[in-house]
Amino acid sequence: MDVLRIRGGKKLNGTVQVSGAKNACLPILAATLLTDEPCIVRNVPLLSDSTAMRKILEHQGAVVEDLGGNAWKICAKNIIPATPYELVRKMRASICVMGALTGRLKTAEIPYPGGCVIGQRPIDLHIKGLKKLGCEITQDAGVIRIDGSAMRGAYIFLGGRNGSTVTGTSNILMAAVLTPGTTQIDCAACEPEIQDLCEMLIKMGAKIKGVGSPKLTVTGVKKLHGCEHSVIPDRIEAGTFLLCGAITGGDITVHGAVREHLGAFLDKLNEAKVPFEVIDETSIRVRGDLMKTFVPVDIVTFPHPGFPTDLQAQFSALMAITPGISLITERIYPNRFMHVPELGRMGASISIEGATAIVKGGTKLSGAPVMASDLRASAALVLAGLVADGETWVQRVYHLDRGYEGFEKKLARLGADIVRLDDSQMPRYDD
Ligand code: EPU
Repeated sequence: MDVLRIRGGKKLNGTVQVSGAKNACLPILAATLLTDEPCIVRNVPLLSDSTAMRKILEHQGAVVEDLGGNAWKICAKNIIPATPYELVRKMRASICVMGALTGRLKTAEIPYPGGCVIGQRPIDLHIKGLKKLGCEITQDAGVIRIDGSAMRGAYIFLGGRNGSTVTGTSNILMAAVLTPGTTQIDCAACEPEIQDLCEMLIKMGAKIKGVGSPKLTVTGVKKLHGCEHSVIPDRIEAGTFLLCGAITGGDITVHGAVREHLGAFLDKLNEAKVPFEVIDETSIRVRGDLMKTFVPVDIVTFPHPGFPTDLQAQFSALMAITPGISLITERIYPNRFMHVPELGRMGASISIEGATAIVKGGTKLSGAPVMASDLRASAALVLAGLVADGETWVQRVYHLDRGYEGFEKKLARLGADIVRLDDSQMPRYDD
C-alpha cells in the first residue's frame, strides 16, 4: 500500500492548477445515462472515484472513451437498470446513478449504499423525493427496487435535519427532467456542483428554472440529447491549496479558485488575517509569506453558501498552529472529526465536545506516522505534515486519491518535500 512521506518546513511557492470538481463530475457522468446520444465531458479529474463511476457506467451498458486531456466521450445507447453491489460499495456517490436510471428507464435496482466513516449518510430524502414523483419503491436483500412506471411531476420539499441534500438534489433533478409535468424542488441544494449539473442537463435539452437557488422548477421533456460540457474547477481542492500557502508561509497562486464558489471560506481566511488577493474570476494568490500573525477564528459548517464541511478538517490544521482558541462546529456531519486524534499524534491540542472541536492552537507540530481515515481528513494530515518538524508518514493515501488529482505531484512542484512510497519503506515505529 502507498504512503506519503512529508518532510516539513518548506515554504510552498509558485502556481498550481486545480482539477475538475469531483462532486460535480460524478453526477455529471451519471447524467450521461439520461440520453442515448453521445456526450463529451471535459475537465474530468483523474481520480479513483471517477474511475469507479466509469466502471458503473460501463456496467450499465455505456461505452466510455478516453479522448485524452481529461475528456471522456460517453455513449449510453442501450442501458440496463440494475447496478451491482460490488461496484456501489466502493463509492458512496454511485447512488447518483439512481436518479438517472429512474429518469431514463422508469425502473432501477441499486444496492443500498450503507454508512461511511464520516458518519451516518442516510438516503431517506432521495427515496422521499422519488416517491413524491410517483415511484413505487421496495427494498429487499439490501437492494432498492424502483418502479417509475407511474411517474409524474410533483412538489417536493427536500430539506432534512441538516439542511438540503446534495446528491439527493442531483438524483431528483435527474429523475424529474424526463418525467411528464412540472416538478418543484423546494429546499434544493445550491452548491456550485448542483448548478454545474443543471447547466449540463440544460445543454442536454432539460427545462430547469431557478438554477443556483433553493427552488428549482423542472418541466419534464420526452427526450434529452447529447452535449459537451466542461466540469467546473474543484473549490475544495482550491481551498486546500490556499491553506497550503497560508500554513507554510508561502506564496501560491491557485488557478481554478473561483471566488464566487469560495465566499464563506475566503471570509474566514480574511478573519484569520491570511493575506490573499483575488487576481481574477478564477485565480487567487495567497501570501502566507506576508502573514505576521495568525488569528484564531470560529467556524460552523453549513450547506452552500455556508462554510463547506469538506474544508473543515483542512482549516482545523491551520487553526492547530494558530495561537489561541478556535471552535469548529460541524452542522452537516456531526462526527466528522476523524482527523482530530491523528493531528493529536502530531502535537495538536484539540478536544471534541459534541459536534464541536475545541482547538487550543499554537503548538509546534512534530512529524509522526498518521493514518488517513477519509478524504478530507487525509488532506488535513498532509497540511499538518507540511509545517511539522521532521517526517510525517501518511498511511492509507488511497483516500486522497479519491478526491485530489496528483496531489503530491502538485505539492512537490510548489516546493514541498513529499514523496509517495511503498509502506514497506516506512521506518518501524514501536507504538
Ligand atoms: N441527509 C439526510 N438524508 C438524506 C440525505 C442526506 O438526512 O437522504 C443528511 C446527511 O446525513 C447530512 C446532510 O443531509 O447530514 C447533507 O448530506 P448530503 O446528502 O448533502 O451529502 P452527500 O450528497 O451524500 C455530498 C458530497 C460530500 C459533501 C456533502 C456535503 C458528493 C459526491 N459528496 O455528499 O462530499 O461532504 O455533499 O456538502 O457530492 C467529500 O467530497 O469529501 C464529500 C464527503
